[in-house]
Amino acid sequence: MARKRIVAGNWKMNMTIEEGRNWLRSFSRHHDLAQQVEEVILFPPFTALAALANDERGKALQWGGQNLHEAVAGAYTGEISGPMIRDCHADWVLIGHSERRTLFQEQDDLIARKMRRAINSDLQPVLCVGETLEERESGQFMEVVARQVVRGLSDFPQHALDRLVIAYEPVWAIGTGKTASPQDAQDMHYHIRKTLSSLYTESIAESIRILYGGSVKPENAASLFACPDIDGGLVGGASLDPDHFAALLGIR
Ligand code: PGA
Repeated sequence: MARKRIVAGNWKMNMTIEEGRNWLRSFSRHHDLAQQVEEVILFPPFTALAALANDERGKALQWGGQNLHEAVAGAYTGEISGPMIRDCHADWVLIGHSERRTLFQEQDDLIARKMRRAINSDLQPVLCVGETLEERESGQFMEVVARQVVRGLSDFPQHALDRLVIAYEPVWAIGTGKTASPQDAQDMHYHIRKTLSSLYTESIAESIRILYGGSVKPENAASLFACPDIDGGLVGGASLDPDHFAALLGIR
């Protein structure tokens, strides 16, 4: 079954509203998204999300938040809820990004609750998984990532599996300039798909998109995207430059 490719930009803690508007201006000057065959999603910081997604309403770009709180509302100073992200005209949310796992101590049980909250808030979640350098060198990385997938989806409703996207981002490749080789990335994506197949059915596993993330850039995207189980990319650093990001689109 053909899976539509996704190219997503994770801006992390970068870009004011004005910088985001400049980015969009130069991106749209050179690139007609209506011509693109892939889905293109941007994940700006919350402070810019509402303004930018509102400016671009009705256009082909899609928008998402970089995180959400597991509760729907309440006394959680500094947090953002699923309904608030929807309120910004955004449809997507990143969950369990490795920076959330390592810098903010997010564990699989919390991530599972956030996955459930995303669906209950009518958002499409991107579940991020990936091993650390230590885990890769110990040889346990396949088990580590499979466990993150199984635990992250432990409370995920079956009826919502058509909204699920997974991003495999080896922690040692994020922001480091090191990329997994296409073969190593493909092996892990295949393993994730097999894990999904054992959780659900083979045909459901075949329909779920699995993105690669970790120093994706114009020079390495073609060989990664050519792998049969890699359905696009989640891009950090290279997404901050509209021309670099645009160079990742339309790759065949
Ligand atoms: P990077 O980040 O492309 O800068 O490695 C990817 C990510 O963290 O989503």
